[in-house]
Amino acid sequence: MSDFNSFLQDHADCERKASSMAMSLVAKYPDRLEIIPELIETGVEELEHFQMVYKIMESRGVQLRHKIPEDLYVKQLVKKCHDGRLERFMDRLLIASVVETRGAERFRLVAENLEDDEMKKFYKMLWVSEAKHGHIFVKMALHYFPEQQVYDRLQWWVDQEGEVISGLEIKAALH
Ligand SMILES: [Fe+2]
Ligand SMILES: [Fe+2]
Repeated sequence: MSDFNSFLQDHADCERKASSMAMSLVAKYPDRLEIIPELIETGVEELEHFQMVYKIMESRGVQLRHKIPEDLYVKQLVKKCHDGRLERFMDRLLIASVVETRGAERFRLVAENLEDDEMKKFYKMLWVSEAKHGHIFVKMALHYFPEQQVYDRLQWWVDQEGEVISGLEIKAALH
């Protein structure tokens, strides 16, 4: 909170990356017809979030970063993916779910600690939206894999993510 401008720069990067992640799933799995409309919708929503954060940055005279630091969080998660096309497909959806849910948790913390009413409202809206995305990606996995398998794997990812995030340096960033 004491370096909120840096947080905004990171937040904007995260929204843009979330949008491209959804669209990269469309590109990687064009035959998964059941989830393409929701992936596109998620990609659009994330891009809208990016647009909204950028507006706030503009009003504060904060610029986007030139050099985007390496995303150690996502990188470490992706490294833990299982082998095999199908396994990887499920992992990618469930990683998206845990990342979105972590984002929701962090936006909630931000919303609760901001003073400005408008900004509080904005981060509360994002918290709700990212929590919704967290559910959507699980629902997507349930289209293709048995319920027990999805929830067991999700629990595994929740544990893995917990380990990864507690190993990261604390900074003015989403994670
Ligand atoms: Fe978002
Ligand atoms: Fe999201």
